[in-house]
Amino acid sequence: MDSHCLLHLIVTLLAVINSCLTRLTPRVSFPMGSPGRRLTCFSSHDVSNTTTLLLSQDGERLYVGARDAVLALDVSHKDTVLLRSKLDWSPSEKDLEECSMKGKEMADCPNFIRVLQFLNSTHMYACGTFAFSPRCTYINSETLTMSFNTDEGRGRCPYDPYQRNTAIIVGGELYTGTVADYRGNRPVIARHLSEGSRVDLKLDDTLGWLEDPTFVSSSFIPYDDKIYFFFSEVGREYNFIDKFIVSRVSQICMSDIGGQRTLQRRWTTFAKAQLLCQAGSELPYNVIQDIDMLPPAEGASADDTLFYGIFTSQWAANSGRSAVCSFSLSEIKSVFAGNYKVLNRDTLQWSTRVQDKVANPGECGLHNASDNALRFVKENFLAEDSVRPVGRHLTMVSTERVYSHLAVQRVQAANKKLYIVLFLLTDAGHLHKAVLLQGGPHIIEEVQVFKAPQPIRSLKLSTPKRMMYVGTSVGVVRIPTANCSYYWTCAQCILSRDPFCGWDPVSRACVEVSDTQPALSQDIDGGNVDESCNSISLPHRSKFGPNKLPTASCPAGELVSVSLNEVVRLHCPAASQLSQQLWERPNSRLSSDLYLHLKDGSLSFVATPATLGHYLCLSTENGYRQTMAIYHVKQKSSPMAQTPTSYTQLHTQSQLTTQAVARPGLHTSVGEVPKTTESRPAETKPSLSTRNIQVTTRQHGRNGTLWKESGNTEAEFPLLSARCPSYLKELVVVSVLLVLCLSLLITITLYVLRQHCRRRTAPATGTPSRNSDRRTPEEQKALRENEFVKHNGQGPLGGHASGLVCNGNFSDSTQNLPNTPF
Ligand SMILES: *[C@@H]1O[C@H](CO)[C@@H](O)[C@H](O)[C@H]1NC(C)=O
Ligand SMILES: *[C@@H]1O[C@H](CO)[C@@H](O)[C@H](O)[C@H]1NC(C)=O
Ligand SMILES: *[C@@H]1O[C@H](CO)[C@@H](O)[C@H](O)[C@H]1NC(C)=O
Ligand SMILES: *[C@@H]1O[C@H](CO)[C@@H](O)[C@H](O)[C@H]1NC(C)=O
Repeated sequence: MDSHCLLHLIVTLLAVINSCLTRLTPRVSFPMGSPGRRLTCFSSHDVSNTTTLLLSQDGERLYVGARDAVLALDVSHKDTVLLRSKLDWSPSEKDLEECSMKGKEMADCPNFIRVLQFLNSTHMYACGTFAFSPRCTYINSETLTMSFNTDEGRGRCPYDPYQRNTAIIVGGELYTGTVADYRGNRPVIARHLSEGSRVDLKLDDTLGWLEDPTFVSSSFIPYDDKIYFFFSEVGREYNFIDKFIVSRVSQICMSDIGGQRTLQRRWTTFAKAQLLCQAGSELPYNVIQDIDMLPPAEGASADDTLFYGIFTSQWAANSGRSAVCSFSLSEIKSVFAGNYKVLNRDTLQWSTRVQDKVANPGECGLHNASDNALRFVKENFLAEDSVRPVGRHLTMVSTERVYSHLAVQRVQAANKKLYIVLFLLTDAGHLHKAVLLQGGPHIIEEVQVFKAPQPIRSLKLSTPKRMMYVGTSVGVVRIPTANCSYYWTCAQCILSRDPFCGWDPVSRACVEVSDTQPALSQDIDGGNVDESCNSISLPHRSKFGPNKLPTASCPAGELVSVSLNEVVRLHCPAASQLSQQLWERPNSRLSSDLYLHLKDGSLSFVATPATLGHYLCLSTENGYRQTMAIYHVKQKSSPMAQTPTSYTQLHTQSQLTTQAVARPGLHTSVGEVPKTTESRPAETKPSLSTRNIQVTTRQHGRNGTLWKESGNTEAEFPLLSARCPSYLKELVVVSVLLVLCLSLLITITLYVLRQHCRRRTAPATGTPSRNSDRRTPEEQKALRENEFVKHNGQGPLGGHASGLVCNGNFSDSTQNLPNTPF
């Protein structure tokens, strides 16, 4: 009993820690290798650092900038990604020697391709770090051959492969944000490849237009004549805080050709403003990590363009957290059209002193302006107002995930309503798909796309083909934006609230929403199953009555033989990570004196004649109830007559199930004797079992000891008469008292803990521990080296722990691992 309560305490504590940190739980989680979410990936032993991605307009070709190579991948096939051609582009031995002579690590000296853009209909333009001496070249998109002469890449591409940069080609001209020197302390925003009357332009660097920036992204807005750059930098205007980082949006006009005397070959239209991702008076999420543009809905004005960005905070109190904010183009424009701060040239201090406005900084078409006007715009480049998020609030805050990349898309639901869907990549390799609803974001699913944390990675969304691409050091992973067929019942399909998926009552399947699909059932806003699936009779209504619907969601009953006084534990699989489990008995209440509801949803009690009988485990989610398991707890008829073989088997399987992190099945073990129950690995590591709930209920009921409910179960298994020996009652009472005492203790501990959480101090173990995090650096290195090489090999954890999943090989081999009887 004591150890049981201790377990209870641990599980409860962990759950409370979780609940005080997690407000946004992905509804479904697919660990790597799950058959429900297959990844297609490209990797090759002679290709690495495949992190720069460029997708062709039709979404059929993916160009990849890698280490010493540019690749053309054919991504038009459903099941595979094919390498069409590869262009090798590496520095010579002499270049490499010079690079390492300059004191650089040999591993950083290769040519890391960091700029890859379409130039015109036949050619791309690419730049690489080229042994810390950047070079650029033209590449024929069809043949993947490069021009003989390479350009110097200074100001187009960083020298250091770990330095972030951004580049975009518009109208044959290359706009870049990068550092333009070997040491990495001369940042530029520049234009290259200009021809004719147009000239290459760069920043005037006498006044510190940029302060040690980290470039994140650049966007071109059609019909706007402007290019916007997003970056973070040191906020000099906050001179009271040492090295306060601010996020910025800056703009330049494409029509800019520099001034005639003042600002010759320099931008006359450069302006920057602060991007604020902050709620009320809370600490701002001040460091931008990534940003993606959401074009306006069809027919709306360009000013309705939105930018969705991920922000983290530079302060420890917010470490391990990240926020998503959205900004509208109209707000950005109005800030740039407003007043500008004034820089005192002697003290380099900013002020908001009112002064005569000689010109409008940020205005396009100033090239013929007077020297006086140009001097004014040169000195007034920081907008006074900050760009605030849409609706003045944060779109989303994750208290336990640090998102690093995002892609945003507008998705038309079955009822033609438009929803905004965000794809968010975490540092540790999880891709979250979230839909933004009136009441806040809903994370539809979480898919693990790589294991070892990747230093540099990228995310690309192919809207026409409904695919996501993730570029990492070890390969490129492709994942469809949805797998509707994973939701095998109408209830699951509706509860997913996935705008990509709807229930087709005719084919009785969850299918992708498309224009050709006739009326599908869907309820993104409400997720109301009863309304959306009303034509389908609900399995849970049948309860203990005759089982009319042998549907997949109606589980088989399971027979549990016990001796009296044994502690029984019945497991209840969760329908999703958002569901809650509850237990029912026919014609009897589950009094809390006799039953212990464990945090993982399982039920524990002492076997007495009163507690023998039928148990029904229900899962409720969003007001919808469904039956997850049915048990019949029965007294062993005689010590010899039980079926020990099947239970031993179950036990072995349950150990396997809980050990394999990437298991597709469920706990199906039940009713073990106390000793074995307490030695289960799931209980010594409760965090693992409560956090990685699997939801493939479909596989439930595969194990050997199941029996199918048929006909009237009451008749077949009449409840045993509750004639209780008196000593047993006393035992139960004493046990219950013990439990109550311990519960009091737990409550006090929890209260203290909750207070601790409320204060929102950064938790010492804020980020969830994952296996990959627990590895030693050597193991991680070994893993990284092994990744992509062995797609079918057993990983170090006994499952397929390492490597990405390529072309479904992986899922096929693990699919039946934990649940198939040997
Ligand atoms: C979608 O889910 C179903 C059911 O789990 C699975 O059989 C299928 O392979 C999955 N498809 C993809 C592309 O992931
Ligand atoms: C595209 O640009 C390349 C390099 O400048 C040039 O050789 C080629 O002719 C251009 N193609 C078209 C169709 O303009
Ligand atoms: C600006 O100057 C250019 C020559 O530099 C001239 O061709 C053009 O007409 C001028 N535009 C205006 C609006 O004055
Ligand atoms: C290149 O990839 C290796 C792993 O394959 C990684 O260790 C290294 O940090 C990557 N380098 C860059 C510049 O991304």
